[in-house]
Amino acid sequence: MTIGQAHAAAPDPDVKIVASRRERSILWREVKSANLFAGPPSFQEFFALGGGSVIYLGSDPSSWLILGRWKEGGRVGIIWAIRAGEEESSALLRTAVDRGADLDFSSLITRPLSFTQATAYLAAGFEPFREITIFEMRVGTPPPEKPPRVLPLGVKPRGLRPGDMGKVLALDSRCFDDFWSLDRYTLAGIAHAADINTFRVATAGAMLVGYAIAGVTAGRGYLQRLGVDPAYQGRGLGKALAAWTLWWMSRNGASLITVNTQTDNEPASRLYRRLGFRQTGVERFLFAREVSVT
Ligand SMILES: CC(C)(COP(=O)(O)OP(=O)(O)OC[C@H]1O[C@@H](n2cnc3c(N)ncnc32)[C@H](O)[C@@H]1OP(=O)(O)O)[C@@H](O)C(=O)NCCC(=O)NCCS
Repeated sequence: MTIGQAHAAAPDPDVKIVASRRERSILWREVKSANLFAGPPSFQEFFALGGGSVIYLGSDPSSWLILGRWKEGGRVGIIWAIRAGEEESSALLRTAVDRGADLDFSSLITRPLSFTQATAYLAAGFEPFREITIFEMRVGTPPPEKPPRVLPLGVKPRGLRPGDMGKVLALDSRCFDDFWSLDRYTLAGIAHAADINTFRVATAGAMLVGYAIAGVTAGRGYLQRLGVDPAYQGRGLGKALAAWTLWWMSRNGASLITVNTQTDNEPASRLYRRLGFRQTGVERFLFAREVSVT
């Protein structure tokens, strides 16, 4: 990937990296509003993952940044969130880059952001490297009581069962490339990202051949993840799984449903349009920069 180059910068003495248990409990009070952690135990677990770091201003712990590992065992770090003014953000980002170097990260990426939201990142040498398109759909009429028809080709739908997660991860890595496929932590995070969530899988014999994750928070539905085994693609399975989650979301109070995908993912974009989604016109980007100090 072609991403922004690193440049060395002097460390800011006011910027700290959470180390002690006491600092963790102070920062928990600050970061819980970011909805990144289900509760204090998952916040604690984050630090044990090898790469999970919270960076903050010693003089003002309400200014903070959360740095994690994009994928278990990988060398890409992700800035999950920053809450700080522009100047403070720059100081936090400089320390995040140093921290990334200490952790042997090769690069840092952001979550999807607009250019306006990315001002501090751009100043810190980040550049756009993946474009995301956001689709929305308003739910007009009340949903029918029964879900849409069964899946094609003898493929059977069901809810997630304990013990399925390994198969879902394997399926996910068949559906998505190295960059976009999930590790178990991110998959678990996505599966619980909303107030109420559904996790639907499609099976052919003993094999998992498709899956969909969706959730609803405060009347907004989110189609979080959709994947169909490449050997089963193009036969209506993706459409059927997505249609089931749309039904589920509207039955669970969603009046507006959002989904996003990488802008150049033509099959997914076509599928969402076919289902009635409209492009919002809001573009988001993942921004990235290299970490190694030159
Ligand atoms: C996107 C994806 C879920 C579609 O699943 P699928 O089972 O192949 O899709 P379907 O057979 O149900 O096709 C539904 C619609 O999608 C579109 N579509 C599917 N495959 C397509 C392709 N290769 N090229 C263009 N459009 C395609 C078509 O519009 C199709 O509708 P139509 O047949 O009425 O024209 C599947 O391709 C996939 O898992 N891709 C990799 C993971 C991914 O990109 N997930 C979504 C990203 S958020």
